[in-house]
Amino acid sequence: MRKKIVAANWKMNLDFNMAEDLMAELSEKLAEREEDGPEIVICPPFPYLEMAIDFSEDGAFLTGAQNIHPLDAGPYTGEVSAAMLASMLVDYCIIGHSERRLHFGESDAFLAEKVKAALKWDLTPIFCCGETLDQRNEKRHFEVVSDQLAAGLFHLPESEFRRVVIAYEPVWAIGTGVNATNEQAQEMHAWIRKLIAEKYNPATAAVTSILYGGSCNAGNAPGLFAQPDVDGGLIGGASLKADEFISITRSFPARQ
Ligand code: 13P
Repeated sequence: MRKKIVAANWKMNLDFNMAEDLMAELSEKLAEREEDGPEIVICPPFPYLEMAIDFSEDGAFLTGAQNIHPLDAGPYTGEVSAAMLASMLVDYCIIGHSERRLHFGESDAFLAEKVKAALKWDLTPIFCCGETLDQRNEKRHFEVVSDQLAAGLFHLPESEFRRVVIAYEPVWAIGTGVNATNEQAQEMHAWIRKLIAEKYNPATAAVTSILYGGSCNAGNAPGLFAQPDVDGGLIGGASLKADEFISITRSFPARQ
């Protein structure tokens, strides 16, 4: 069975003391979570990663970076490599978030290199894809997501692809309070799984975790997570409030 995952993307939020308080609360309250609960990943800003690793030692959550540079080291002022994160025992990294594509001009080819670097250093990539509102209105959303996956991930051999997590994050849903409906999310997740089955095979498609992101909160998570192809969430704003985030982690339907 594929993994259920709820990942927190804190983005560029919280000062050091606020981050410490939130991590302390999460590590305490998530330690009591159920045996068959999802994997929980906290992706704070870089300066707080070491603190997250310390808090993660109690086993309440895993840690993730919000970005990496594809090269291991060198004259790239301000950048952080997968090699560095691996040496700190970080578990995950987000790659290809729409905010990086938009504000930092990250191309598909650059993202494909980042995915390679993450896998080389045993970080699990959470690869983001998703269409803008204009693209959806033009009914190009399936094509856009197909192109993003083809360019960013489908260069991988099957054994490496199986180590990747995908996050479908429609750009129009991010930070807007307008989430994809259960039907829209399920439709796109099923489409992504079909693309994986065609590129690789149905067994690989069946074990790939596909998360939903975009205004996911404690109110809409149960409906979204009940969809057969939605394996969890990548949570922005709602991950900054401990109780709301914990409630999201408990939003999966009971196992049959
Ligand atoms: P929001 O949950 O704030 O809409 O952000 C989603 C997101 O971009 C997670 O990566």
